[in-house]
Amino acid sequence: MSYLEIKNLQKRYTKDGPLIVNNMNLSIEKGEFIVFLGPSGCGKTTTIRMISGLEDISGGEILIDGESVVGKKPKDRGVSMIFQSYAIWPHMTVFDNIAYPLKLQKVPKEEIKERVTTAARATDIEGLLDRYPAQMSGGQRQRVAVARAIVVKPKIFLMDEPLSNLDAKLRVSMRTELKNIHLQQNSTSIFVTHDQSEAMSLADRIVVMYKGNIEQIGTPMEVYQNSATKFVAEFIGTPPTNFFKARIEKEGAGLMAANEHIRYQVPEALVQALLPYAGKEVDMGVRPEYIDLSFSLEKTPGYMCDATIDFVEPQGSHAILITKIGGNEVKIHTTTYMEMAPKTKVALQVKEDRVMFFDCGTTLRIR
Ligand SMILES: Nc1ncnc2c1ncn2[C@@H]1O[C@H](COP(=O)(O)OP(=O)(O)OP(=O)(O)O)[C@@H](O)[C@H]1O
Ligand SMILES: [Mg+2]
Repeated sequence: MSYLEIKNLQKRYTKDGPLIVNNMNLSIEKGEFIVFLGPSGCGKTTTIRMISGLEDISGGEILIDGESVVGKKPKDRGVSMIFQSYAIWPHMTVFDNIAYPLKLQKVPKEEIKERVTTAARATDIEGLLDRYPAQMSGGQRQRVAVARAIVVKPKIFLMDEPLSNLDAKLRVSMRTELKNIHLQQNSTSIFVTHDQSEAMSLADRIVVMYKGNIEQIGTPMEVYQNSATKFVAEFIGTPPTNFFKARIEKEGAGLMAANEHIRYQVPEALVQALLPYAGKEVDMGVRPEYIDLSFSLEKTPGYMCDATIDFVEPQGSHAILITKIGGNEVKIHTTTYMEMAPKTKVALQVKEDRVMFFDCGTTLRIR
């Protein structure tokens, strides 16, 4: 059995209200760093509040270390939670803030001192123990919240968008530190965010959520390279995946994905899976970095269509090229043609069969 088991977890806030969390199933191993990723309102906070015990569940089961925690008080579940707002007490020093949960547990004074010092060292605020929150920066307050959470040595460490109050630069450095603390403590962690780059850089596995459902569970590379649904392909990656509506047509022994503007030969490996879609429309997705350009306008394998590059947006290490296909904006990520003149005419090709097709009804990947 896994360290944290969530089985058919459900949540309605009112008896006849909508299902905010819809039969969620998830197993987390000891020491894993899990990120819940999804847009605002998809149920991330609700889910971790149910795990922590701050919110009742409407159905299902939650087991931590083999034991059901449903009905147990938050303090008896062995979890620590960090909130977006930090929730540290302004009238207490840093030391007292970190010591607070240990005092509640009636830990002896000497041990409190030792554990607070260790937690403060891990979070690099050892020199600030006598200060009050008002005398510290946002990043330092965040560290106090982290120290207070790790001082109790929780079985599971729950973090709800803990970095979202920090400025962009501090967010990036704090996330590296959080990862570092995680590696040192080997804590089992669930981290909530709607920021896909934060999720990609922190997670062992990402749980992509949408409208109360889990769309996909996988490593950052799995959800990126092998998106299971159209939503995942759209939500993960910047710029996002380019989508085209295309009809699947038989041509000789093969299949074409085509619309008014595009004619693309379906890669052989996908022909079997797409045969049942012949005559029907599908969503075709290509990530910006998997579109290649040909200036000679050759119709080489992978060819999709001709296009005129409208804008070039240099980003330093790469450039984003912007074109329009049938009125839809298409973005291309390139490291090769960074100095291209606008209005250049090119042929667009899908690189190495890196195309994704999705069922228009179920939104599931066709493969
Ligand atoms: N106490 C509540 N009573 C009724 N509905 C609620 C309550 N708390 C949250 N909801 C609803 O449940 C849904 C999920 O909310 P939740 O806070 O879990 O989303 P989230 O994924 O954490 O979003 P965000 O990224 O904005 O924090 C939303 O539609 C929200 O309006
Ligand atoms: Mg939330």
